[in-house]
Amino acid sequence: MLREAVSQLFTAAGGSVEAAALIADHLVGANLRGHDSHGIGVVPLYLASIKTGGMVLDRELRLVSDTGGMMIFDAGRGPGQVMGHRAMEAGIELAKTKGSVIIGLRNSHHLGRIGHWAEQCAAAGLVSIHFVNVVAGPIVAPFGGTKARLGTNPFAAGFPRIAAEPVIVDFATSRLAMGKIRVYRNQGKTLPDNALLTADGVKTNDPNDLFADPPGVLVPFGEHKGWGLALACELLGAALLGGETQHDGSKDPAVINSMLSILVSPDQIGTVAAFGSEMSQVLAWVQSENNEAPGRVLLPGQPEQAMRQQRLDEGIPIDPATLEQIATAASDAGLSDLMFHALARRT
Ligand SMILES: NC(=O)c1ccc[n+]([C@@H]2O[C@H](COP(=O)([O-])OP(=O)(O)OC[C@H]3O[C@@H](n4cnc5c(N)ncnc54)[C@H](O)[C@@H]3O)[C@@H](O)[C@H]2O)c1
Repeated sequence: MLREAVSQLFTAAGGSVEAAALIADHLVGANLRGHDSHGIGVVPLYLASIKTGGMVLDRELRLVSDTGGMMIFDAGRGPGQVMGHRAMEAGIELAKTKGSVIIGLRNSHHLGRIGHWAEQCAAAGLVSIHFVNVVAGPIVAPFGGTKARLGTNPFAAGFPRIAAEPVIVDFATSRLAMGKIRVYRNQGKTLPDNALLTADGVKTNDPNDLFADPPGVLVPFGEHKGWGLALACELLGAALLGGETQHDGSKDPAVINSMLSILVSPDQIGTVAAFGSEMSQVLAWVQSENNEAPGRVLLPGQPEQAMRQQRLDEGIPIDPATLEQIATAASDAGLSDLMFHALARRT
């Protein structure tokens, strides 16, 4: 139902059936995994971006460079869910024959939950690493600073397992992702400590401070280490690929991502048996304390996998504010007779 409603919105907005389905699958998939920040709550942003040209729904992915071991694609602000899917498909095909490939995807509209791309690679039996920058107006202060200079530059890595869910490491390099602050605000909750500064550089727990004028500033996770990774995401994810970087205070109304992905086939490089056996030993060792305290040590990816099962069983809770924002955005885009009004009315 939710997937169909989202898909209908994007076909009504001018997208192909395939593009709309990829967008809907990705967004609902993020909700299923508990990342409501990257779920259907971004629909208003996407519809607004389509209107202003920040997202070009029917854009084709363009190959701009191919050295054999590395391909760079320019997405020309095409929908991230479509551009990312096609770029990963191309990378998976090459890595499965050559053993490894580096894929550059530059100037895409929002690529959503970056773990989605690691999961696509893991489903094909590939290990992958993803460095991503965000150009949407600076929002994160460098470690040691109080002024916004970069985006929430996410990092992800995926490790496939035989007959088990993959290990998926996937996070923003800010203490909290921007969308999470929106979720806290919509749910009327206060923020954890050390995630946000006011525009004056004072620590705050109020999510509304991020949306104040002048806006608040997010803080990198892990102090200088998270800050270093955020900078690496900017340089690897975009600068190296000739993609747009965040280097001034200008605010792009769209969210533009560039991503550098490294895909490796353990099968092709001849380590598949050792990799599988060493990884299971490492994973058993790091979780061995669970014998005494079951569930205390989780592997990256497990919270999302458990949440997916729970939400498949029980449904996805969407707060009324989010549904209302989508219904209003749909009306503003002239897509008034769609299912979200019905969904919003039902809550
Ligand atoms: N496209 C963009 O511009 C953009 C920007 C920033 C973030 N994002 C996405 O936002 C999403 C949310 O990011 P986030 O920083 O809020 O993520 P988060 O803080 O929820 O961290 C998620 C990661 O931590 C792991 N994890 C969580 N709890 C754990 C535990 N107890 N033990 C072990 N591992 C655990 C998860 O499995 C996952 O790998 C991500 O999917 C990210 O890719 C996208």
